[in-house]
Amino acid sequence: MPAVSIKPDIYWIGVNDRITDLFEGLWPITNEGVTYNSYLINDEKKAIIDLMKSFKGDEYFAQIDEITDVSKIDYIIINHMEPDHSGLLRTLRRISPKVTLVGSAKTKKLLEDFFSIRNNVEVVGDGDKLSLGNRTLQFFMTPFLHWPETMMTYDPSDRILFSCDAFGGYGAIRGAIFDDLCENADFYEKEALRYYVNIVANYSPRVLSAIEKLADIPVDVIAPSHGLIWRGNSSRIVDLYKKWAEYATEKTEPGVTLVYGSMYGNTDVVMNAVAQGISRVGVPVEIFDAARTHVSYILPSLWTKRGVMIGAPTYEVSLFPPMADVLNMAVRKRIKNKKAAYFGSYGWSGGALREMQKIIEPLKWDLTDTFEFLGAPTEEDIKKAEEFGARFAELVKKED
Ligand SMILES: Cc1cc2nc3c(=O)[nH]c(=O)nc-3n(C[C@H](O)[C@H](O)[C@H](O)COP(=O)(O)O)c2cc1C
Ligand SMILES: [Fe+2]
Ligand SMILES: [Fe+2]
Repeated sequence: MPAVSIKPDIYWIGVNDRITDLFEGLWPITNEGVTYNSYLINDEKKAIIDLMKSFKGDEYFAQIDEITDVSKIDYIIINHMEPDHSGLLRTLRRISPKVTLVGSAKTKKLLEDFFSIRNNVEVVGDGDKLSLGNRTLQFFMTPFLHWPETMMTYDPSDRILFSCDAFGGYGAIRGAIFDDLCENADFYEKEALRYYVNIVANYSPRVLSAIEKLADIPVDVIAPSHGLIWRGNSSRIVDLYKKWAEYATEKTEPGVTLVYGSMYGNTDVVMNAVAQGISRVGVPVEIFDAARTHVSYILPSLWTKRGVMIGAPTYEVSLFPPMADVLNMAVRKRIKNKKAAYFGSYGWSGGALREMQKIIEPLKWDLTDTFEFLGAPTEEDIKKAEEFGARFAELVKKED
């Protein structure tokens, strides 16, 4: 894509990635894609805010060439050192060896450790300013959003906050980079949530402190490093991030995430009866097959819904492995404050429930009910399963 003007002399010079299958080598983006948003300010002094991953360098540098000679860039502002924003740093320094790198004290250390860069680094602290001639940028430290060195860059003249990963999302751009020109905002909001839970959620208290810290700054445009630039309604993405961050400790949405797995269909049959019971009570339920759905897509539901219904058989005296994987990830992402219930088939010894309880122990979920059955479910089991689902849904509903 060619460079896109955001305000006079301020450009998006990002690149759309529809090729990478796994973001951070872990999270699927094959169907959704992602953008690496980089920004160029063409003032008396010229600054680039965040670069991008080492990928499509020709396209990236061609965008800069549209505006200015790469060798004329004075500053590279590094809000965040993760390689999806710094991958092209070596190439850029080869073209422009005198360019000054600007970042936090921790960025300076990471520049040494990751790139062996020791010279031409300017360290900035919280609230420090950098004049480019017609505008003066200001830096705000936002540590652990989501690395220790992260900061945001603010341009008070144009009221733009370059927020880096915070307020970002998955999703390659389908023509429109701005929220107000985008026809499918729902897609980007959904992908922002998936990105949030996959990447940022563990640092939710930091998100809330950053939002509080920046509350008094007048912002017209939020320009993150992934996904849409929010200028039509810039508070929308901040409000969404705030809501998602609050879910770490506060009340979540009145719904149930039903995650199940089944080898030979016995737990599957019961799962449908459980789901019927939940629906009968009028509680929304989202259903995921743990073995067939990447956990990246299950996490947003787990994060936002109050109830977790787990259905899995016993496998080698323990829990069906794909379910153990999903729950282990929930533990890593510290998805707390849930009402939970378990059902599943077993053949002789059982063991799934015991292992499940062990895995989720650190999360302190309120395990309200369990329903185990031997082999194939009887008609009686299926009736019981529907009641079991309904009972659980009533409990989830009661929390309102
Ligand atoms: C590979 C494998 C290992 C199993 N290990 C156990 C076990 O250790 N203890 C047990 O009680 N049942 C065990 N079972 C039996 C299953 O739990 C039982 O067949 C159950 O009905 C499977 O439910 P599903 O049809 O939903 O997959 C095992 C089954 C398989 C296929
Ligand atoms: Fe990052
Ligand atoms: Fe990033």
